[in-house]
Amino acid sequence: STSASSVPSDSARVNYRNGLHLAPMVRCGTLPTRLLALHYGANLVWGPEIIDRAMMGSTRTEVPLPESARAHGGKLIKFMKNGRSVFETHSIEKSRLIYQIGSSNAQQAVQAALLVQQDVAGIDLNCGCPKDFSTKGGMGAALLSTPDLLCSILEALVEAVDVPVSCKIRLLPTQEDTLALVEKISRTGIACLTVHCRTKDMRDREHALHDRLRDIVELVEARGIPVIANGDCFGAHDVEKIKSITGVSSIMIARGAEANPSCFRSSGLAEPVSEIIPLYLKIALAVDNHFSNTKYCLQCGSLADKHMTPGGSKPTTSKQLSALKQSMSSAKTYADFCKLFDVDEAAARLETVE
Ligand code: FNR
Repeated sequence: STSASSVPSDSARVNYRNGLHLAPMVRCGTLPTRLLALHYGANLVWGPEIIDRAMMGSTRTEVPLPESARAHGGKLIKFMKNGRSVFETHSIEKSRLIYQIGSSNAQQAVQAALLVQQDVAGIDLNCGCPKDFSTKGGMGAALLSTPDLLCSILEALVEAVDVPVSCKIRLLPTQEDTLALVEKISRTGIACLTVHCRTKDMRDREHALHDRLRDIVELVEARGIPVIANGDCFGAHDVEKIKSITGVSSIMIARGAEANPSCFRSSGLAEPVSEIIPLYLKIALAVDNHFSNTKYCLQCGSLADKHMTPGGSKPTTSKQLSALKQSMSSAKTYADFCKLFDVDEAAARLETVE
């Protein structure tokens, strides 16, 4: 099943092309963030990296939804392990959800993928995370230095799972090495390649090297495999420039979406206090997202000072904004948040996710 001829039919099942996609983000890329990104126009959404072993041994559980939500046929699915939820998804995102695995072991990657494949559109292998917790185990960006292992994991996934397999890499220090690597990767049967246009040692504040992507795109697209550009796209306003430099048809956004999930809208950003936060809260309640994760996402995202724009009937002075921020940081329950943002908690819990 790794023959080149299987690629077009596989990738046809997920449209990686012509899209603005939500990037994988540990902690921030949980279900409410993904649903909000889709609401604002994201085409595909990547889940947060989940290490293969974390998922292995988990139990798939369908959570009973309230009558009102069930009527629409939606299903909330949690993968439970040792009494804790490892991964959560809603059937509404299934056709657009790419599940990302952290792995340095083909058999383990396959085991994790087989557990989730019925609930997702595709499986992605993280080959770009430069953090110690990933690279120490030979995962993430460490795989860039072990291309045989990297490709063997991809081949094993392509062979074993029924959904398309993709991978996300960073650039290598030299263009020559990068092209050799993507050449090898493009023979594994993957349906899509995402390139974060930075090297492993580059920090996020350094500009993404978009100009290095064009040759890569030509090589990989010649095999019928779409390439997604990642790095320094903060919304619709950056899209055309990145497309023209790189030749890609799709772009993936991480920090821009973390800061403001309405970045996928072509009409510009929505206002956090009056629109995004209340909506985020309602979605988080409707899908029963863990409170501490909701709090984390709201605080690292739309509430960052620089993104708080005054508007509506909400606080308008910087003093009021910082008071609101303070109240949020001391919030201990959903009720505290709902009070701050005029959300009816009981009603939100019964809402249908659409
Ligand atoms: C990330 N990134 C990341 N990448 C990945 O492949 N798997 C992951 O789980 C994560 N987690 C993650 C969390 C957070 C909070 C951030 C900010 C980033 C990297 C991310 O997907 C992306 O490659 C980079 O952030 C570059 O894109 P932007 O931010 O310039 O759009």
